Amino acid sequence: MQTRTLGRQGLTTSAIGYGSMGISLAYGPGDEKEGIAAIQKAHDLGVTFFDTAELYGWGENEEIVGRAVKSFRDEAVIATKFGFTRDGGFDSRPEHIREVVDNSLRYLGMDHIDVLYQHRVDPDVPIEDVAGTVKELIDAGKVKYFGLSEAGPETLRRAHAVQPVSVLQTEYSLFEREVEVLFPVLDELGIGFVPYSPLGRGFLTGTAKPADQYDETDMRSWDARWQPGNFEKNVAATHQLTELAASKDATVAQLALAWLLAQGDHIVPIPGTRSAKRVEENIGAADISLTEADLARISEILPEGGFGSRYPAGMSPNWQ
Ligand SMILES: NC(=O)c1ccc[n+]([C@@H]2O[C@H](COP(=O)([O-])OP(=O)(O)OC[C@H]3O[C@@H](n4cnc5c(N)ncnc54)[C@H](OP(=O)(O)O)[C@@H]3O)[C@@H](O)[C@H]2O)c1
Repeated sequence: MQTRTLGRQGLTTSAIGYGSMGISLAYGPGDEKEGIAAIQKAHDLGVTFFDTAELYGWGENEEIVGRAVKSFRDEAVIATKFGFTRDGGFDSRPEHIREVVDNSLRYLGMDHIDVLYQHRVDPDVPIEDVAGTVKELIDAGKVKYFGLSEAGPETLRRAHAVQPVSVLQTEYSLFEREVEVLFPVLDELGIGFVPYSPLGRGFLTGTAKPADQYDETDMRSWDARWQPGNFEKNVAATHQLTELAASKDATVAQLALAWLLAQGDHIVPIPGTRSAKRVEENIGAADISLTEADLARISEILPEGGFGSRYPAGMSPNWQ
């Protein structure tokens, strides 16, 4: 697997990473054993970048990731995140960040975190205070690199002035393009980019079912892209993408990931799956190159992304 560099502080990862959220959250019940096997398969195939968060089970997911990577920890780049509260609010007060980091280190069973992200911008805490706290943690050796998630240009600039930001993580896929407006700022500041939900929460794998066929603990039961009206249009677009992928002996999931890799060398998607077999399929995307004609066809199929907003109004991040 090729490697990519994120930011200007020395962070290097495999071109495709692994997102562990689904093992504990969002897509119906997960299975720890299966999740560990998926993570270890990813490692066997050259993945070095593993993404978790305090939010994904309040320690449970970090414990799973920690156990899964134990035998190859030194080769792995482990990213985790702070900043949510259990009732869905935000808390990035410095004392809270320090406490969460100590908990994360304990759950992961590690002496340092490679990438520490603020999961969401906290409107009540100046970003300078957040960046300053992460800087202290870097100086103390508990953290190596600083990341932000769902932050806008002003926040990126202000944070970067205190502690250089190596990476921004935000939703980005063939279905979700809004973040492209931030690419010039990322370019100017030399910040890497990690697309989350790069498979459109699984829609871009050709396996989407109507919303009412998902478990109630699966967010796709209420996600707008799965609702009648949007669902059919998203299915039609995915069918066309699947045909294009087949003409390249690829799957639609591989095409979706290869498209992300083709958007810039500073981009490292982190597809999530609980299945070792699907890990293998997704990583295969690193070997697929898209021609100008392929990219043009993709733009014809989905000129502006998928149908249906990615979050309900109250949950939509507010970029500043
Ligand atoms: N910063 C943030 O706020 C934020 C938000 C969301 C996610 N994330 C991170 O980004 C990672 C990835 O995003 P995501 O998990 O939301 O979405 P995703 O990677 O776009 O899609 C995950 C879904 O697709 C399915 N899937 C994956 N590969 C597949 C394949 N080849 N064939 C069929 N189905 C496949 C998975 O099901 P199975 O597990 O059953 O295979 C899962 O339901 C997360 O794990 C998390 O680490 C961050």
